[in-house]
Amino acid sequence: MKVFVTGHLGLIGPSVVRTLKEAGHTVTAFDTGYFRENIDADADYVEPDCEIAKDIRDVSLEDVRGHDAVVHMAGLSNDPLGALNEQLTFNINLDASNRLADIAKEEGVGRFVFFSSCSLYGVADTSAAVAETAPQPPVTAYAKSKVGTEHHLLEIASDAFSPVFLRNATCYGISARPRFDLVLNNLSAFGYFTREIKIMSDGTPWRPLVHIDDVALATLCALEADKSAVHAEAFNVGRNDENFQIKDLAEIVKSKLPGATLDITGETGGDDRSYRVDFTKALEGLPGFRPTWTVDRGADQILAWCRGHDRLGFAGATSRNYVRLKQVDHLLNGKRIDTELRWT
Ligand SMILES: NC(=O)c1ccc[n+]([C@@H]2O[C@H](COP(=O)([O-])OP(=O)(O)OC[C@H]3O[C@@H](n4cnc5c(N)ncnc54)[C@H](O)[C@@H]3O)[C@@H](O)[C@H]2O)c1
Repeated sequence: MKVFVTGHLGLIGPSVVRTLKEAGHTVTAFDTGYFRENIDADADYVEPDCEIAKDIRDVSLEDVRGHDAVVHMAGLSNDPLGALNEQLTFNINLDASNRLADIAKEEGVGRFVFFSSCSLYGVADTSAAVAETAPQPPVTAYAKSKVGTEHHLLEIASDAFSPVFLRNATCYGISARPRFDLVLNNLSAFGYFTREIKIMSDGTPWRPLVHIDDVALATLCALEADKSAVHAEAFNVGRNDENFQIKDLAEIVKSKLPGATLDITGETGGDDRSYRVDFTKALEGLPGFRPTWTVDRGADQILAWCRGHDRLGFAGATSRNYVRLKQVDHLLNGKRIDTELRWT
């Protein structure tokens, strides 16, 4: 299959490109490149077959022409980035995604795998895990943009155009472009470099977690599945035994770092998202999807990476190379991108 992949220069992108190429697919990769320079120098990086350096707001029919499928990951990819400027989040994540979907349909692309998020469940009743049919009262611009694009894709789904929504859990793990602004990666790197694990809340909010390689596997499965299994379907991507309270994640990391302390500050406010997610539909209905990673093993992977990059120290591991908001601020402050996040 010839696959048009957007957002390949992000955290998850390298894992998706590798997985698709190893499965024999050809990858055209499209990204504006905010994080192009933020790559692990030691990483074994798999290059796409063709690369387009361009803003998703400017994607054209010609870019997408000739592809069998689209995997759409590009965008402002988490709540803090989305909060930079809400209108921009709608322009990039919602309007540009919807336009890309229209273009893909017009160009005869058969399968459109959209990277949505469990964030759209917002503040859910945590007495039960939420399935795909649960209400979606999104609390952030980022989550609203994901809901909006899912709705648009549903509207334009047709016999020839099959959208699939991967509502990914919060990712963890090391890729060729490691990031330490995700909860498990952050707790692990801070714990490793400072021997102090700090939670800036009471630690009770629930989060479902998934390894980036399992998300890449789900992507491959969604691309290769028979249309009848995935057409216009949403799948929560993760595993049922991997919903955690933040304080439990911290305890797992602490147990692997002898001498480390855990400080739960008990602060409230800011981020009040909390949700437990039911992944049964993907586990039973997304052909071939058998996630293999656990948080326990993932924490080992992140700590092993830290050990191998000990020279970075705390300052290095929390620099713009590993924290997306800091990299975007760096580009803004240096006037390399303007306030619309366009290259100057
Ligand atoms: N990381 C997670 O925990 C998680 C969880 C659920 C869903 N997702 C979704 O998965 C996708 C990928 O996430 P990630 O963590 O790899 O994100 P990331 O921020 O690391 O990468 C996103 C990529 O999109 C590119 N991009 C941003 N704006 C663009 C624009 N205007 N034009 C072209 N390219 C642009 C960036 O340059 C970057 O390389 C996102 O859609 C995100 O919402 C991520």
